[in-house]
Amino acid sequence: MAIESINAYRDEIVHQDIKNLKDLEEFRLKWLSKKGILAELFSEMKNVPAEERKNYGLEVNSLKQFVEQRFDEFSELLQKSKEVSAKANIDLTLDGTPISIGSSHPLTIIRNQMVDIFASLGFVISEGPEIVDDWHNFTALNMPEDHPARDMQDTFFISQDPVTVMRTHTSSVQVMVMQSQAPPIRTISPGRVFRKDSDATHSPVFHQVEGLFVDEAVSFADLKQTLFYFVQEMFGEGTKTRFRPSYFPFTEPSAEMDILGLRYNPETGKQEETWIEVLGCGMVDPAVLDNCGIDSRKYSGFAFGIGIERMAMVKYNIQDIRLFYENDLRFLEQFVSEV
Ligand code: PHE
Repeated sequence: MAIESINAYRDEIVHQDIKNLKDLEEFRLKWLSKKGILAELFSEMKNVPAEERKNYGLEVNSLKQFVEQRFDEFSELLQKSKEVSAKANIDLTLDGTPISIGSSHPLTIIRNQMVDIFASLGFVISEGPEIVDDWHNFTALNMPEDHPARDMQDTFFISQDPVTVMRTHTSSVQVMVMQSQAPPIRTISPGRVFRKDSDATHSPVFHQVEGLFVDEAVSFADLKQTLFYFVQEMFGEGTKTRFRPSYFPFTEPSAEMDILGLRYNPETGKQEETWIEVLGCGMVDPAVLDNCGIDSRKYSGFAFGIGIERMAMVKYNIQDIRLFYENDLRFLEQFVSEV
């Protein structure tokens, strides 16, 4: 009789569901406390007939071990789930950890500003490949093979036959646009260009924004006014500019535009006002229009090429072009507010 009730207890314990600390405490009181079932079973021992006593004792002891084992298991389980929920718990009243959203690179900032200014004048963006054949980079632009004008741009050659180069200027995009579109053309081409050239103001990889305007009766006055407007927008109204005659094989006449800005003079150790060259430009040479399938008797146009690094260096008063490519956060973080 006594043994049977012990087995029933065992069964009860197996089916006991303990979900929280309160359940666990109830379990302890019911089985393990001084007035619990186990204590009662032990005190019953003296009433058990002598020949059954040994067996009874063994059964009660094994039940006790079983209860203690269950108790330990449940308390361990509850402890673990407490830790997990503590970890997962989010205190919404706490300050968040600040996350850095980063910022645009200064060259991206300047490029976007340039694109916006020209877009406001109706220029659309065209893009071209960074690796081009000899014809698009040179020949179509009035620089035939062996022509000394090619020496103006130190070039990375990819292959010799056929001659393929990393474009030395975005002017190769002009050629592609004129080949594939009929005037009126009003386009800018921002992009990466490559020259075998490096010092504090030259990098073998740099960026330009090319501009091209082709229509009937386009004049040098249109070119000047467009670039004058651009500079006023970019550097502020009243910025002084000057055009200097220059030479590019693909424009005639050609000019370079300077703006009056501040530049550090290492000899005096001071910022001094000087003319700073910011772009090359000119009227598209009629031979270039014809090379690209545009009738030069009917159409004329102007083109310009602006260095993005040069713009950024003037605008932010940066002396060394290499700072743009070093990814030094102390440099880059200065442009956060410009995003
Ligand atoms: N392609 C020239 C350069 O890289 C710049 C330029 C573009 C000049 C368009 C005139 C017209 O130096």
